[in-house]
Amino acid sequence: MSETRSYPCHVKTDAGDIEFRLMGRADEAAVLAFAQKLPTHDLLFLPRNISQPKVLSAWINEIERGAIVSLLAVKNETVVGCGTLVRDPHSWSPHVGEIRMVVSLDVRGQGVGRALSQETFALALGAGLEKLSVQMTVDQQAAIALFESLGFRAEALLRDHVRDVDGKKHDIVVLGHNVAQVRAQLEAYGVPGAVQH
Ligand SMILES: CC(C)(COP(=O)(O)OP(=O)(O)OC[C@H]1O[C@@H](n2cnc3c(N)ncnc32)[C@H](O)[C@@H]1OP(=O)(O)O)[C@@H](O)C(=O)NCCC(=O)NCCS
Repeated sequence: MSETRSYPCHVKTDAGDIEFRLMGRADEAAVLAFAQKLPTHDLLFLPRNISQPKVLSAWINEIERGAIVSLLAVKNETVVGCGTLVRDPHSWSPHVGEIRMVVSLDVRGQGVGRALSQETFALALGAGLEKLSVQMTVDQQAAIALFESLGFRAEALLRDHVRDVDGKKHDIVVLGHNVAQVRAQLEAYGVPGAVQH
């Protein structure tokens, strides 16, 4: 689903030059190091704890199977962010994709998350998806603000839905975005190519 965009590519952010490239098996150690430095609270939106090597290995299997596309944000050969698009063409929601995104603490607030979310969003549009969802714990204000600015709106609140390592439960908010509408608008403006390059 990434054939319409080309990687690696570079973006300028306040954190400096960031390379976006597709994640593969060779990135396993670098992504594990990235995940293990993240506060575990910031991983609660994910279905599995990616700081565990077994989970990471299963994730890469999914990438190789084509079910997941993950984009890495890399600064000076260090992984500083990851944006993932998950879809299941064999489910009843083949038209829906889920975006999962996380940026390392030391570069937060410098535009890496915004650039990564835009790139992941463009991947989803290029893949022909009609709806996107994201989910996060309700206290992730930066994530909520970021995705709302891209047009996502709250669709569901799941109370006490995840439990952290200390046993404390947290609510999850699910945001959705009807991207089919965006594509139709772009086409109405005569810029269908704007979502692919
Ligand atoms: C969400 C996340 C990826 C953002 O990454 P980032 O690199 O810090 O994001 P940016 O610097 O590009 O900021 C993007 C937007 O987030 C919002 N934002 C950033 N920091 C914020 C803060 N401390 N408080 C409120 N909003 C904030 C702003 O709206 C900002 O938009 P701007 O470009 O107009 O300033 C990062 O905070 C993160 O990894 N969070 C934990 C994981 C998570 O919950 N992911 C959500 C699941 S999809």
